[in-house]
This record gives sequence, C-alpha cells and structure tokens, in this order.
Amino acid sequence: NIPSLQDVFKDNFILGTSLGVNEIYNTEGPDAQLIKKHFNSLTPANELKWDATEPQEGKFNFTRSDRIVEFAEENDIAVRGHTLIWHSQTPNWVFYDGEGNLASKELLYARMKHHIETVVGRYKGKIYAWDVVNEVLEPADGLPNGLRNSLWYQIAGEEYIEKAFEFAHEADPEAILYINDYNTHIPEKRDYLYDLVKRLKDKGVPIHGVGHQTHIGVFYPPVRELDQMIEKFKDLDVEQEVTEMDMSIYLNDNQKYDTFPEYLQIAQANRYKEIFDIFKKHADELSAVIFWGKDDLNTWLRTFPVRRNNWPLLFDERLQAKYAYWAIVDPS
Ligand code: XIL
Repeated sequence: NIPSLQDVFKDNFILGTSLGVNEIYNTEGPDAQLIKKHFNSLTPANELKWDATEPQEGKFNFTRSDRIVEFAEENDIAVRGHTLIWHSQTPNWVFYDGEGNLASKELLYARMKHHIETVVGRYKGKIYAWDVVNEVLEPADGLPNGLRNSLWYQIAGEEYIEKAFEFAHEADPEAILYINDYNTHIPEKRDYLYDLVKRLKDKGVPIHGVGHQTHIGVFYPPVRELDQMIEKFKDLDVEQEVTEMDMSIYLNDNQKYDTFPEYLQIAQANRYKEIFDIFKKHADELSAVIFWGKDDLNTWLRTFPVRRNNWPLLFDERLQAKYAYWAIVDPS
C-alpha cells in the first residue's frame, strides 16, 4: 500500500499521466486501479488526435475519446486535450483539395474551424486545457522564427497558429489554451518559443499556457537547462505544465538492453529526484506535471525511435513501483 503520487504532490501541482483507452476498458483492472490511485489528470495519448477524431472529412468518431472522458468524470479526474493542430497523425485530406493540389488557405481554415469547433465543443466544460498547437517549432528547418516547415506553414504561414487559438477560444472560452513542444530546454528552441508566445500575446491571441513535453534521458539535458526552461517564461503571464515527461535510459539509437541495468535504475532514480526538486521549486509557475504513460510496458519509447526495451517511467512492466518512484516520493 504505497503512497499515492497525487497526494504526495497535492501542495505542489497536479500530477497526471497519458493513457490509451485500452488501459481502462476494464475499469477495475490493475491499470485502471493504478491510474485512479495516483493521478488527478489524464491525457488521451492518441484518441483526440485528428486522425482519430475526424479520419474522413466531416465524419467524426468519438467512441474512444468519450470512453476516456467518461472514465475520468466517474473518478473525478481532470482531462487535458491533446492535440488539435499538429503535423503528425493528421490525415492527408486536410491539406489537399479534391484534385491533388495543396488546399488554399481559405479551405484549410474552414476545415480547421469545423474540426476545432466540433472537437472542443463536444468536450466543453469536460476538458480543462487543450494543446491547441503541438510542435510548431523546428529550428533545423531553417525558417524565420524557428518555425517548422509543415504543411500548415506551407499553406498559411505563421498565421495558422493564431487562427487555431481563436477557433479554440470561440469553441470553449473557459478552456486553458496551450502551445506544446519538445526540447523546450534547448536554449535556441526555448527562445524561439518565448518570442512566439510573446508575439501572440502582444497581438491579443487567446493563449494561456506553455507545455513542455520533457521527453528527456538519464544523462541529458543538464538539470540547469530544465530549471531555465521554466524560469524563462515567468514574466510572460502564462501557465506552464510539464506535459509528457519520460526518461529514456539510452544515449543513442544503437543501444539496446534486454534487462534494465542496476546502475541505470539508480542513476534514473537520482535524476528523477533532482528534477522533481526543480519542479517543486517552481511550483508557483508549474500547474501540472504529467507523465507520458504510467508504466514501462505502456510506453511509446518501446517503439520510438527504434524497437527496444526502455524503462522510462515510475512503474515497471508489472506495475510495481521502481526506485524512480521511491526517489520522488521520499520526502527527505
Ligand atoms: C505518441 C503516442 O504515445 C504513440 O502511441 C503514437 O504512436 C505516436 O505519438 N509527442 C507528442 C505525443 O506530442 O503526441 C506523442 O505521442 C509523443 C511525442
């Protein structure tokens, strides 16, 4: 009978996890039990992405996302919406006209508006925060302002970002609207994100939060960069959340272990502790810390970037608490 994570951190921040609908089909099974005990915020990992909710134009499917939202409601757990506008897991039809040419800006905006209205509108009052745009920055693409060279950008330029926030705000004026991205600790990308949020706020765009995915490793990045990642946005009048935390044990794509080396279990635990100390220090800025999955079986890092075992989370493949769990729960 171990301590509940949401209790341990109740004076600091919301504590969440992402999940797949398969984890809660059995609402009393071991996965669902673990979720109910430890987490007070849930993010559907795939069920609210465009390819899941509107695979064909105008044909919406909410079976799986409804199931998660109902489970959350029954158990008094908050839900984060992930995600409305992204370059990935978005059907191709969104970007093309009937003839195989890129859609016009007008057509693209009409589709965006209808999609966002329908999805956000359905969960009005049930989903407290939305990742309105996800991963819109990619400095390596070489575009001005560090923007990603996505089809969104190619059709509409930077403007699609503000349109997305405006449509989402119209659909649910109470929802907290986030921009979400990874590697936001890297100074170059962090600063592009800061400048983008500032531009949007200066224009009066309804943007309320910055989400730091925080997919990190046992040996990178330096803890100081995670500290500065949060510090940087303090003066912008936005909420911040750690939205997708996990900690890969690998340094590159070529490594592969069959079992989790003991020294890495210990290194991982120490590092989780160090990082949670930083998060606690920033409790006034951070409204939530959310893991991308709860256990080492249900983690995307077993297939990304290559197929291999990985042990990035607080609970192991058998849902047992790891050293990493004890390291962040230990009050000393
Ligand atoms: C991942 C899911 O966990 C996987 O199941 C899916 O195959 C690919 O997407 N950043 C994000 C998330 O914003 O949406 C991604 O989720 C992980 C990286």
